[in-house]
Amino acid sequence: MALPSTLPQWQALAALAAAPAARTIRDKFAADPARAQRFTRSACGIRLDFSKTSIDADTLAALLALARAQDVAGFREKMFAGAPVNGTERRAALHVALRGEGGFRAAGEDASAEVAATLARMRDFVRRTHEARHITDVVNIGIGGSDLGPAMVVRALATPADPLRAHFVGNVDGAAILPLLEELDPARTLVLIASKTFTTQETMANAAVARAWIADRLGESAVGEKFCALSTNARAVAAFGIPESRTFGFRDWVGGRFSLWSAIGLSIALALGWEKFAALLQGARAMDEHFRAAPDAENLPLLMALVELWHATFLDYPARAVLAYDQRLSRFAAHLQQLEMESLGKRVTVDGNLVGYPTGTVVFGEPGTNAQHSFMQLVHQGPRVIPVDFLLAAVPGHSLADNHRILAAHAIAQSEALLAGKTEAAALAEMLAAGMDEAEARRLAPHRAFPGERPSLFLLYRTLDARTLGALVALYEHKVASLGALWGINPFDQWGVELGKALAGPVLAELAPGAAIGSHDASTVALIASFRNLRGEA
Ligand code: F6P
Repeated sequence: MALPSTLPQWQALAALAAAPAARTIRDKFAADPARAQRFTRSACGIRLDFSKTSIDADTLAALLALARAQDVAGFREKMFAGAPVNGTERRAALHVALRGEGGFRAAGEDASAEVAATLARMRDFVRRTHEARHITDVVNIGIGGSDLGPAMVVRALATPADPLRAHFVGNVDGAAILPLLEELDPARTLVLIASKTFTTQETMANAAVARAWIADRLGESAVGEKFCALSTNARAVAAFGIPESRTFGFRDWVGGRFSLWSAIGLSIALALGWEKFAALLQGARAMDEHFRAAPDAENLPLLMALVELWHATFLDYPARAVLAYDQRLSRFAAHLQQLEMESLGKRVTVDGNLVGYPTGTVVFGEPGTNAQHSFMQLVHQGPRVIPVDFLLAAVPGHSLADNHRILAAHAIAQSEALLAGKTEAAALAEMLAAGMDEAEARRLAPHRAFPGERPSLFLLYRTLDARTLGALVALYEHKVASLGALWGINPFDQWGVELGKALAGPVLAELAPGAAIGSHDASTVALIASFRNLRGEA
């Protein structure tokens, strides 16, 4: 396959990006009174406004032409058909089969039948756990996709009326697990070991701590009844001592960052109840259907991918901020960090050729309005342009109507301010009108001016229920898949995490007192030696 950048459609976009108006937005609003409507689409209860970007009719047409040339639709259909779209691991990427719709096949097998059977077992287990009433807390031990998705969903949808409290332990830092175990009653706690591979060092270390806690406090025989495993590795699970009846499996065609819909989501169903988990899946399924059926120009995931392609590759904007004006989504950016950066942080195409153009964007975020009092200074006035995704619910999940209007006003005003900016002349005039000394006003004017023309997307939905959250997460998943096709990279592998994991093995051995320090760069040798010295274990 040729590099996408050799396509004429790519060259056409490069030419548009080099034009003087490529980065301007305000002039496009001035020229087109219908711009806001023209660049807004809705699906699955989500209203996407991308009018506050520099995309105009020509850019959009050129982006859609590139999507056709790169056969995003073909890639999407291969993904839904269970073809091995994850070529470097020779696997399908069939997370869409997990949303409970029948008819999916992978590697010649009926993937949907297996999904249905696992969902039925999960549902039964959740019902029995709730009915037994002796469990009050569930601890999910897992990291990356075996932590971030479920933790984000539980934080988003939890209410005081929920059946169980859920806790998430990802980090191998003992400061994560120890205080939690101290506060829990082992007799009333269920521990889920969530690991696709059941080999991840951090998770297995924490699992051993939890196992010792249960065995010490309740006896070795309790291990089989206090733990569940959520994993593809049945053999390692059995070796840990968790019976088959408490093991919930999935297949290698579920990538970690796409796995919250699988058995990895058991913590969600236990904590929030089966109905909310089912509604989450339904919301994702609705977005799947939209992604497959909607024409390109109406297709939310594809449009978001095209906006990102325009920003990241053609305008060379290296980062994007995700600002959910929704405290319940306080871990949404963390989930997207893995979903997007682990998927799209690639420098070679599926054929192994160097891409030679920017791919994965740095994603970061905090809930609004907190973000405004932290990093938004840089987004408004820094020399580099950082596009923003705003997310907002019209109706909050609480009764403080005034607070919610303030929150919403800030979200909308931030998007307006990023676009509008303020000229030096306007800043000067404001200060003079307020009675400031002219010399002082002139000194301050450059500091108080805003360039504006800073792009943002606005995702508005009625309320953040389980269905809407499912649709939102699936929207970003399909955006990621579309970007993989557009950039010609594999969005489903993650080889970039392997080297550090491998090097941690020898370093761990060399951190032991008296161990010989092997061959490393001089800085690494000195770090190992200093660590041991500072611990008095040289
Ligand atoms: O960090 C790499 C990674 O493989 C992620 O893709 C994955 O979500 C995480 O580790 C956890 O893996 P596992 O579920 O196998 O423990």
